[in-house]
Amino acid sequence: MTQLNELKTLAKMPCEETVLLRVDLNVPTKDGVILDDSKIRACLPTIEFLHAKCRDTKIVLLSHLGRPDGGDDKLSLKPVQERLEELLGREVLFCKESIGPEPKFLIHQAKPGSLILLENLRFYPEEKKGDFNFAKQLSELGDVYINDAFAVSHRNDASVAVLPELFPKMSFAGFLLDKEILLLTRTFKKPEQPFIAIIGGSKLSSKLPLIESLIEKADTVIIGGLMAYTFLKARGENVGATEVEEDFVDQARKILLSRDGRKIVLPVDQIVVDADGKIFESQFPMPEATRACDIGSGSVELFKKILSNSKTVLWNGPMGIFEQAPFEAGSKSLIQFLDGLKATKIAGGGDTLHMVESLQGKHAFSWLSTGGGAMVEYITKMDLPSLKWLSE
Ligand code: ADP
Ligand code: 3PG
Ligand code: MG
Repeated sequence: MTQLNELKTLAKMPCEETVLLRVDLNVPTKDGVILDDSKIRACLPTIEFLHAKCRDTKIVLLSHLGRPDGGDDKLSLKPVQERLEELLGREVLFCKESIGPEPKFLIHQAKPGSLILLENLRFYPEEKKGDFNFAKQLSELGDVYINDAFAVSHRNDASVAVLPELFPKMSFAGFLLDKEILLLTRTFKKPEQPFIAIIGGSKLSSKLPLIESLIEKADTVIIGGLMAYTFLKARGENVGATEVEEDFVDQARKILLSRDGRKIVLPVDQIVVDADGKIFESQFPMPEATRACDIGSGSVELFKKILSNSKTVLWNGPMGIFEQAPFEAGSKSLIQFLDGLKATKIAGGGDTLHMVESLQGKHAFSWLSTGGGAMVEYITKMDLPSLKWLSE
């Protein structure tokens, strides 16, 4: 297990010609427009520190955006380059390729101290596969490696888990990664109890392993959002036309029937939309042809009652389609309730940060993490695959 004080931080980094800085610029976007730039802002301290400490060092930013299937214009990092320029007030060069002669040439030609962003690493399937040769090609672009991409550090992606291996003495942890690890370790090594987790969002399939480990550690796991309906179907409820992940119903049932399954609390009602677009509150059984878009008032009251005892709250994933009024109401009520609750309250995840920001709920939380999956995985294991490369 990686110990806190073992992480090699930037203070120890020598100034070389070019540094490869892995960041998580995976911001929520719609048709190429950035909906929330919290993750971009979270990277700025490391970039600014590097620039001040090593004025002539070229900084090459590496990131993914979304989950593209090969190249996909809608998931280009170009809009992120523009936002970075606005936020930093300086030029950010952009390279449409992430490996090969094009970035090599651009980096070589760039003035000392330049900042260069390479295109979405996930346009190359090798990135997700943790491919050694892909990492090798990335490594040829720089002399030092920094991981400041906490939110993706639970993945075995090439730029996160393989690339640092190629810089055995020259891999460091950025400020954001270091801060997230420090705060999460402090809060969750021995969380003050009752420890209650709120999990929501759309895809159960992507969060099932996290839920399985979280129910061992938490006293209660409240599940909302679309993913709750796969559990509700597994419990035998009629969920109308709500889109459940059929392939995961059996696994959800197993979790509900497991020893810790009693810790799971699901919605008792919901705000639904019918085939004509009519919006109303419904209990179970849900009418045919209705889809659940937010938790209902009974669920809000039930969740508040459970949360009122808690000393530690962890929240990842919205309770409803918060981007679309009036389906933000359930999440908003819980945020308002948490605001008045005396407990350590942490929320994290790309869309969760967007939700908290758009519902003006920052003040309700002790702090916000950029990581969703990474945050949950870290608090359950107190380790992440990439950390061993960044340790003393
Ligand atoms: P995070 O990025 O914070 O981990 P997720 O990506 O898991 O969160 O989920 C966020 C998405 O879940 C939001 O875009 C939201 O609209 C969607 N969502 C939540 N509840 C529902 C629902 N009932 N139906 C459809 N989508 C939902
Ligand atoms: C996130 O938003 O949680 C991170 O950027 C990781 O993205 P991923 O879940 O697609 O690996
Ligand atoms: Mg998300």
